[in-house]
Amino acid sequence: MSPVFTPPINPQQIVSPSRAIYETMGEENITRMIEDFYAELEQSSIREMFPRDMKFSAQKSAAFFVGLLGGPPLYHQRYGNPMMRARHLPLPINRAARDEWLACFERVLQHATERYQFPPEHLEGFREFLSGFSLWMMNRD
Ligand code: HEM
Repeated sequence: MSPVFTPPINPQQIVSPSRAIYETMGEENITRMIEDFYAELEQSSIREMFPRDMKFSAQKSAAFFVGLLGGPPLYHQRYGNPMMRARHLPLPINRAARDEWLACFERVLQHATERYQFPPEHLEGFREFLSGFSLWMMNRD
């Protein structure tokens, strides 16, 4: 009966994706992948959580993923410490919202090797990361 929500994952279990991914994809492919992900979010049931114009959101996320996947720490340089869980706390992210977010990403990953040169040997690790990290973003039942 605690009023404090506990995310269903211990963040120490989350394994960061391989930093070799950036070497293959580069900033341009990562940015296009995230723009396509935001196009999926735009059609999704969690659309209303985002600002009306999602272009800036997509650019911020692309900056984050460039650093995460092994490139320069663009998000940190432009916007400061990522502190992703804290930044998501004002958003009402329950299990259904998290599942929808992940389903949008999965649709993009289906074609990621052909469209964005995502190295296929690192897809499974990236999916694992997204699954775990999105559980960590949950902040309510
Ligand atoms: C679990 C479900 C998630 C939902 C529903 C969600 C939703 C959102 C929303 C609504 C924003 C605000 C956009 C804006 O105001 O511009 C945002 C920002 C962001 N999200 Fe998520 N997110 C989720 C998970 C994640 C995960 C797992 C990651 C990374 C792996 C991530 C990375 C980001 C980044 C980098 C930003 C930009 C933060 C900023 O405003 O500076 N999100 N997210």
